[in-house]
Amino acid sequence: MPQSTAYQKSQLVLHWLIFILFVVALVAIEWRGNVPNETGKQLRDTLRAVHISAGLLMFILAFVRIEERIRLGAPRILGDAKWQIGSAHLLHFLLYLVMFGLPITGFIFSQAGGREVAFFGWVLPVLIAKDQVLRNNVREVHELIGNAVYFLVGLHALAALWHHYFVKDETLRRILPFLAKRG
Ligand code: HEM
Ligand code: HEM
Repeated sequence: MPQSTAYQKSQLVLHWLIFILFVVALVAIEWRGNVPNETGKQLRDTLRAVHISAGLLMFILAFVRIEERIRLGAPRILGDAKWQIGSAHLLHFLLYLVMFGLPITGFIFSQAGGREVAFFGWVLPVLIAKDQVLRNNVREVHELIGNAVYFLVGLHALAALWHHYFVKDETLRRILPFLAKRG
């Protein structure tokens, strides 16, 4: 894969668009968890639809993003320590896995549970036959990854802030160019 000297504008836009879609998907599903089953059926259904549509849109953008990553590359991770560079690569790899793993598992367990999956109102074709065991297992994987996301993104964001405020290098500024320069 090529090594570039900077992220292209489209890579920056995709990074932050995907971040926003993650936030929308997570807020919708957490909110749904607080809406009572008996009185809030309509709101629960809307929040589920928002969760799924945001997640599927993110899935489409993840393909564009990975294509650009392969074609345009990424700048070198800043820092000299081998463990730091290794863990940054590992974390980025895991974040890519999550971008694909969540929508795929979400799609599989929803259809295996007999629920329709719609993308902004457009009902997707049924690819997975009803299967309660599959539904339960894949749902658990989805929830596991969904909860791990808080930890992974938190660690990723903390590392970026640490680079910016303590190391005072260009790491955060190259994904957020409007940010004031430090040091
Ligand atoms: C950005 C992508 C996504 C993220 C971050 C995400 C994350 C999550 C999280 C954190 C939960 C709650 C887990 C819990 O209660 O512990 C959840 C539940 C759920 N997800 Fe996703 N998800 C994503 C995409 C999708 C997609 C694309 C689908 C369907 C095609 C989907 C279907 C569902 C459903 C139906 C639930 C509710 C499970 C239940 O309580 O019955 N998700 N997701
Ligand atoms: C859903 C949330 C997020 C996901 C999935 C995500 C994913 C990624 C991935 C995969 C990369 C590596 C790009 C590549 O080299 O191909 C990256 C880079 C980066 N992200 Fe995120 N990110 C998220 C949120 C954030 C947040 C909240 C921050 C900062 C507060 C942040 C700051 C950065 C920075 C600074 C880089 C560039 C690292 C470098 O140049 O070495 N990201 N992000």
